[in-house]
Amino acid sequence: MIPLTMTKSSFREWLAGCYPVVEEALERAVETTSIADAPRVLREACSYALLSGGKRIRPALALLACEASGGKREDALPAAVACEMIHAYSLVHDDLPCMDDDNLRRGKATVHKTFGEAEAVLVGDALQSAAFEVLSRQKDSGIATKMLCRLAVASGAAGMVGGQILDMEAEGKELDPDQVSAIHRAKTGALLEASLCLGAIAGKGDPEDWQEFGWCIGALFQATDDVLDETQSTEDLGKTAGKDAEAKKATLVSACGLDGARTLVEQWTSRAETALASISLPTHTEILVDLPRFLRDRCR
Ligand code: IPE
Ligand code: IPE
Ligand code: MG
Ligand code: MG
Ligand code: MG
Repeated sequence: MIPLTMTKSSFREWLAGCYPVVEEALERAVETTSIADAPRVLREACSYALLSGGKRIRPALALLACEASGGKREDALPAAVACEMIHAYSLVHDDLPCMDDDNLRRGKATVHKTFGEAEAVLVGDALQSAAFEVLSRQKDSGIATKMLCRLAVASGAAGMVGGQILDMEAEGKELDPDQVSAIHRAKTGALLEASLCLGAIAGKGDPEDWQEFGWCIGALFQATDDVLDETQSTEDLGKTAGKDAEAKKATLVSACGLDGARTLVEQWTSRAETALASISLPTHTEILVDLPRFLRDRCR
């Protein structure tokens, strides 16, 4: 186990410090859940999808909310792993030809390009099951149950999956920025919010305290994603740039232009800062205060 001691003040440093801890936990999860007993191709494809160099923002949020609530960071590792597994599954399905039809993810060929389409569907299914397996195996069954329910709701029909349906239905339509942000809060915000809430549960804090901040962070994260799709190169993003315009996606850029979308990024940054100010926390305030700015300024 990598030692978990750090005193840093920026979210970037926090993320970098969490990275090896999270990688180790994800690798261990692949070896200790039912993925380890899966048929070889499924095992390899799950590892490819999960251990493939994402930024690991959701796990870092879970660990941060846990420590900020007064817990020990390692208490939130199951929550961190479960949220990243759901996220990885959502990306595998998001990239499928029947959805966004993408060939590149995290700088590599997408799962369906490497292993086949049916296999990619099943990889998503397997990662989703494994996420709930990880949560359910925690020693404290009260904590496990609270996390299971929150993650199920956040990733399900009224959360991430519901948001993905709205995203597809909106293709080719002219939505106003509020309608686009409502989609963002579901397809992306629900899981980011859950990452904070599960972390808070691990730290024996109150997840309700984190809800508004989590939603704002989610809307901000996807607002930036829309801008980056328009402004960055494929090489920098590690996924195909310019796909939103090509697929006639309803994004903040299509709703109000690049400058308008950038203004909304600023607004969501301020809203997140305001929401954070209403949470009373024993520790890690500086890193959390830095988080909205980090998400606003990210370039990948
Ligand atoms: C990409 O999420 C999908 C969205 C919700 C916009 P990330 O930008 O966190 O992707 P990885 O995990 O770093 O690859
Ligand atoms: C994806 O949004 C949100 C998910 C639930 C996966 P996007 O379709 O914009 O994500 P990217 O740009 O492909 O990463
Ligand atoms: Mg999509
Ligand atoms: Mg996509
Ligand atoms: Mg995108």
